[in-house]
Amino acid sequence: MNVAVFGMQWGDEGKGKIVDYLAEKADIVARFQGGSNAGHTVIVGNETLKLHLIPSGVAQNKKLVIGNGAVINPEELISEITELEKRGFRVDLLVSERVHLVFPYHLLLDGALHAHQGNRAAGSTKKGIAPVYADKYERHGLRVADLIEMVDNGELPGYVHKMVELKGKMLHHVFEIEHNLDEQQILDKFYIYANFFRKYSGNVTDEIYHAIAEGKNVLFEGAQGGLLDIDHGLYPYVTSSNTTLGGLYTGMGLGLRCKNKNTVDKVIGVVKAYTSRVGEGPLPAELLNETGNWIREKGHEYGTTTGRPRRIGWLDMLEVNNFVMVNGADEIALTRLDILSGLKQVKICVNYAIDDVLVRQRLATGGAIQKCRPLYEVMAGWDEDISNCRKFEDLPVNAQRYVHRIEEFTGVPVKLIGVGPERSQIIPR
Ligand code: GDP
Ligand code: IMO
Ligand code: MG
Repeated sequence: MNVAVFGMQWGDEGKGKIVDYLAEKADIVARFQGGSNAGHTVIVGNETLKLHLIPSGVAQNKKLVIGNGAVINPEELISEITELEKRGFRVDLLVSERVHLVFPYHLLLDGALHAHQGNRAAGSTKKGIAPVYADKYERHGLRVADLIEMVDNGELPGYVHKMVELKGKMLHHVFEIEHNLDEQQILDKFYIYANFFRKYSGNVTDEIYHAIAEGKNVLFEGAQGGLLDIDHGLYPYVTSSNTTLGGLYTGMGLGLRCKNKNTVDKVIGVVKAYTSRVGEGPLPAELLNETGNWIREKGHEYGTTTGRPRRIGWLDMLEVNNFVMVNGADEIALTRLDILSGLKQVKICVNYAIDDVLVRQRLATGGAIQKCRPLYEVMAGWDEDISNCRKFEDLPVNAQRYVHRIEEFTGVPVKLIGVGPERSQIIPR
């Protein structure tokens, strides 16, 4: 069975934990979009892994794949692999030869763009994501295969010279930022990266197509979340890739079927039991009060990649329902239900109103959403610590009701419930 896992909110829903849990039954775990802006936490016993580029199947010792839709900063990938291997994990990785590479100027431009965008800035992770995807679509980016070819035919110095000149001018003249981009240093490093990729890269489409056709189980791991999708998220407060189902097909180079087998048999949407958001933009169900602070501290809601405090809100069903539709979610994996234990009341945002008129359709702009007043269903909370519950029936009745309400609002069964960060802290249904 081939399973695809997507974040259904603003990222950090707990995809890493769910993918690690599901990876036990997979042969291959594959990423298909995003880059080191992602931060996925996997906790197994005393081991805590903070993964940025490596798929979250690594702790289950699975074959790992990164498809063409992703972007890679080679320095970060190599150090992530080195660190994992030092800790005794086997990294059996294949990277698509079509993956675009992040250069140092992308990182500088990311910061410069952020300053320029003002109140329309998403508050990027400064990992060079928007600039590297922009280069891809402007058709002057560099892919893994191009890097290897240019090293072999001697064209790499010319490419790096041209790009450093162009990006240097942009930084200096457009953004008025002094930079110390060193052409020779970049070149020296990319010669080393080329050797690394000779070992780790290849034709990912071919690999996955044949694996699925032969009956192997592939687990596709989404990064970021629906609201950060470049097309379906809350533009411009988004990332620069498709984080939803369509991104999987283009980001792996696959069709609906591989020979006579479905490429994806099941779509699982990961939903955090409340909302968290690291970055800028409107957030109607945001909790700018003691309850929000309480959830942030109890849940250690600080970004895995940047350490920024995450903004907290109640669960927003309007948004989750939209991504049930966009991803065609068959099931929900609900995470962090344990964090809500101890609240007298829990709320679910079930609709918005603008000037007392109900908003029936999802709104497309931040300006419109900013005007919305969230409408809540208020439910009684529960006090019990649920982190040791392993059966649905063991949960307090009010926690069970909360889960049932989510199923009623979405029309999708909640099949996994996270009650703690560790691999075993999960209730399958
Ligand atoms: P991802 O980006 O979607 O993989 O999520 P992150 O790893 O960035 O953030 C999710 C955080 O919640 C991590 O610290 C996880 O270890 C943790 N986590 C995942 N599921 C649960 C859960 O059910 N309960 C608790 N308490 N923590 C969880
Ligand atoms: P995971 O995979 C949460 C957010 C950033 C910013 C916007 C654009 O861990 O869920 P970018 O650096 O991509 O240009 O930033 O997207 N963002 C994330 N927020 N989790 C992530 O990944 C994120 N990746 C990007 O905070 O608002
Ligand atoms: Mg994360």
